[in-house]
Amino acid sequence: MSPSRVSRTFLGSPASITEARRFITVFLRNWPCVDDAELIVSELATNAVRHSDSGRFGGRFTVSIEADRSRMWLSVLDEGGPLSPRVLPPLASGENGRGLVLVNELAAAWGITGDDRGRIVWAVLEALPEAATRR
Ligand SMILES: Nc1ncnc2c1ncn2[C@@H]1O[C@H](COP(=O)(O)OP(=O)(O)OP(=O)(O)O)[C@@H](O)[C@H]1O
Ligand SMILES: [Mg+2]
Repeated sequence: MSPSRVSRTFLGSPASITEARRFITVFLRNWPCVDDAELIVSELATNAVRHSDSGRFGGRFTVSIEADRSRMWLSVLDEGGPLSPRVLPPLASGENGRGLVLVNELAAAWGITGDDRGRIVWAVLEALPEAATRR
């Protein structure tokens, strides 16, 4: 797969989480890390809809993928709001708080930028596309 970059914007509704997953599986179908990428984007899109202003009426979020031969950069841009993404401590989180813990486990690196007007949560996966690993 040649270096590539693609973004798509979705309505900030729960139904869009399925669409965002599909966007990842279609665009990254030849990449061995497609399952990890799908999980990460699913968690980040869910968070955008549930915790940011993207989930308000008319809100949107944008998923971006940037890939080169060995690395993939995934991100979800939301519409901000009063809450900030943060890894919840296990005791405080109970049933919740697994999303960013999972992202932290799967990604080689991840982070948060932005402010209450819009935030990006990004994650990097290191993986060679199948075509490159066969060589
Ligand atoms: N995009 C976001 N905008 C604002 N706050 C966020 C965002 N993503 C996460 N958060 C905050 O960070 C916390 C931790 O997120 P995380 O995904 O780990 O857990 P959760 O969404 O609460 O539960 P789970 O993902 O297990 O269903 C959230 O409870 C929320 O307060
Ligand atoms: Mg979550």
